[in-house]
Amino acid sequence: MTLLTMGSVNRDITAQLIDFPQPGQTVLAAAAETATGGKSANQAVAAALVGADSHLVARCGADAAGTEAVASLLEAGVRAEAVTPGRGAQGMAFITVRADGENTIVVIPGANAELAAEDCPPGLLAQAGWALLSLEVPLKTVLETAARARAAGTKVALNASPLPAGPVDLRDVDMVIVNEGEARHLLESAQGQTGKPADSEADFAGSDPAAQLGLETLIVTRGAAGAALHRRGEPDVEVSGIPVRAVDTSGCGDAFAGALVGRLTCGDSLEAAAGTATRFAADAATRFGTQCSYPRDFRVSTGS
Ligand code: RIB
Ligand code: NA
Repeated sequence: MTLLTMGSVNRDITAQLIDFPQPGQTVLAAAAETATGGKSANQAVAAALVGADSHLVARCGADAAGTEAVASLLEAGVRAEAVTPGRGAQGMAFITVRADGENTIVVIPGANAELAAEDCPPGLLAQAGWALLSLEVPLKTVLETAARARAAGTKVALNASPLPAGPVDLRDVDMVIVNEGEARHLLESAQGQTGKPADSEADFAGSDPAAQLGLETLIVTRGAAGAALHRRGEPDVEVSGIPVRAVDTSGCGDAFAGALVGRLTCGDSLEAAAGTATRFAADAATRFGTQCSYPRDFRVSTGS
């Protein structure tokens, strides 16, 4: 089975700082690096590096940065036939990483804003076991692609990041992968819509949050604490974190999502895929950068 990831590709400029600047303040970076990023490009790379047949659909820049982005995707083993230049410049992300590994990210969408559902080759979508989507491209594109995928019998996973201000229509989504803050936001807006009281500190455990969102599966990532797997109507499963010395967690959510859905297309169980994704993302956190920090020699353990 193949994986089709559709969404953003960026040029990441990562600056390492002692501390984030305050409003009105200028700070000097201790070091900086420029490399290919973007949530969907990162996810496609992660999937390829854990052994999936990984295809990316995206709009790169009609500039040298776009050409470089495609080259780095191919180098990581991603199938990039459906990564085509838009009219605009390559999307860019300005990332600051603080000494404790915490980060901030500002994205300028550029050509990513041009990505449309029509850019996804129907044959590729129909042949994919899973489509993995995220929200750095127009929401309309994501929702239309999810509907097309469902109609084609392809499962849909959504990394609902970055979350838009309004509600997200999850009717054609099977699985959502989010962090705790994003999960809480989705649950609150779902409860608001159905007129149920929004219990703010909604503890997801035991409350069947997947069913509350109309999903088959909700995966909540918890950083160093691992992840929680919530399947509709089934007991929750906790996946333990891997203790590492984290220097930069930017792109680690993408590492997890891409590795998880990538392993699902390889036939792994959800538990096994989540275990592999947790190890892969933890390894990425030990090096600076987003997709350039993903382990190139990662071994998927087949013993479990
Ligand atoms: O999730 C990390 C990614 O967010 C970075 O690669 C950056 O490009 C932004 O899209
Ligand atoms: Na990293």
